[in-house]
Amino acid sequence: MLLRFLQLWIMLRFACVSCAARQDPFAMHISCGARQNVQTKPTNTLWREDFGFTGGIAANATRPSFITPPLNTLRYFPLSEGPQNCYNINKVPKGHYSIRIFFGLVGRSKDTSEPLFDISIEGTQIYSLKPGWNKQNDQVFVEALVFLTNDSVSICFHSTGHGDPAILSIEIQQIDDKAYYFGPWWSQGIILRTVKRLSCGFGQSKFDVDYGGDSRGGDRFWQRIKTFGDESDQPRSVETRIKQASHPPNFYPETLYQSALVSTNNEPDLTYALEVDPNRNYSVWLHFAEIDNSVTAAGQRVFNIIINDDHAFKDVDIVELSGDIYTALVLNTTVTVNGRILTITLKPKEGNLAIINAIEIFEVIMVESKTISEEVSALQTLKKALGLPPRFGWNGDPCVPQQHPWFGVDCQLNKSSGSWIIDGL
Ligand SMILES: *[C@@H]1O[C@H](CO)[C@@H](O)[C@H](O)[C@H]1NC(C)=O
Ligand SMILES: *[C@@H]1O[C@H](CO)[C@@H](O)[C@H](O)[C@H]1NC(C)=O
Ligand SMILES: *[C@@H]1O[C@H](CO)[C@@H](O)[C@H](O)[C@H]1NC(C)=O
Ligand SMILES: *[C@@H]1O[C@H](CO)[C@@H](O)[C@H](O)[C@H]1NC(C)=O
Ligand SMILES: *[C@@H]1O[C@H](CO)[C@@H](O)[C@H](O)[C@H]1NC(C)=O
Repeated sequence: MLLRFLQLWIMLRFACVSCAARQDPFAMHISCGARQNVQTKPTNTLWREDFGFTGGIAANATRPSFITPPLNTLRYFPLSEGPQNCYNINKVPKGHYSIRIFFGLVGRSKDTSEPLFDISIEGTQIYSLKPGWNKQNDQVFVEALVFLTNDSVSICFHSTGHGDPAILSIEIQQIDDKAYYFGPWWSQGIILRTVKRLSCGFGQSKFDVDYGGDSRGGDRFWQRIKTFGDESDQPRSVETRIKQASHPPNFYPETLYQSALVSTNNEPDLTYALEVDPNRNYSVWLHFAEIDNSVTAAGQRVFNIIINDDHAFKDVDIVELSGDIYTALVLNTTVTVNGRILTITLKPKEGNLAIINAIEIFEVIMVESKTISEEVSALQTLKKALGLPPRFGWNGDPCVPQQHPWFGVDCQLNKSSGSWIIDGL
């Protein structure tokens, strides 16, 4: 009896040492428009009831895609509620976050026309919805990796005259401080917006949680791509364990590396092309593991990687770089794209064929300067004192995003302090 008690005591002690050493990452899920907390299957995610919004109307929602969380409500913002509305969420500890917003369609009909609007986080515009978004699974949400430095976050929705912004859910999930570090240029002054995240080969589109991934990686959506083009490649998959997958700072799920696309003798190059917004910088992450049993040692498969005519990586030998077969290798690079197409080509040098497991592409966005906080508070006081109606929409930062300043406010950037000041009303 005493022995068992001792054993239990030792077990509990050890459990507590490890729980103190690893604090769980912060995570918050909000079900917009919901009057009470909601738990959804099969992941048992707990969604908090709606809070923190500056206006808008709660309504029943239509989910545009099967990947949209199974929630029944949303919040929408007709123009009578002002041209910009925000969620201001406090008590979010300083850190690095993945913020994801799912869009909804108002009402119970799929025919409802899709709204187009702009989204900003902490005053920086991160995205404009594109026509046809509700027909494409990976466009029914926007996701951005952001540093929060003020124990709070402000997420705003800006009308552009194409229907009422409608938001189904907001997720704020802490990730590693160094997640997606891409080199010296990377800093707290940038935001990475997910443009594309592809898992190559057989299978279904999935989230990290479906793959049994580590929550410290966030909960990424991996869209399945079965081919880059007709007969140019073939899928391959294995169940063999993959080494070095779930490592910091990005904690990729192991399953990601168990399937791949391999080029064919007909078409030895593997080429993926994506339409993008021109004149932006993109951070590209390429995932490999040698899972093809025709390659057993270093030197047997070597290829170059070309992105839009530039040699991004020369002589990539997965086995040599990762240290073994069935071992994960992640390469990243940052490219400026002037045109509308981003093309990634893998060109074999040794061995006839190229292989790739997954691709991630982010837009690199510079964080905007903010308006000095005394002036924001002064304007908010003025708004209350004057009893301005909601349709004025004085929410968020008065001067940024620069595309959507407050109505009736003149702003000027003070270049020496790097913040906006109110020049006049
Ligand atoms: C929302 O749906 C519920 C049933 O799911 C219904 O009782 C309610 O009336 C609906 N509300 C609106 C505004 O349509
Ligand atoms: C991304 O690549 C750069 C070199 O280009 C490297 O310094 C950095 O560590 C890489 N990031 C990760 C997370 O592997
Ligand atoms: C792209 O990156 C370069 C530096 O590499 C920078 O000078 C330029 O302003 C960036 N462009 C955009 C649109 O952020
Ligand atoms: C930080 O947040 C507090 C309240 O949440 C606000 O009063 C203050 O102005 C903010 N500071 C900056 C620099 O945004
Ligand atoms: C601009 O910022 C500088 C440095 O913070 C400050 O000394 C100056 O007064 C500011 N100018 C205006 C017009 O506010």
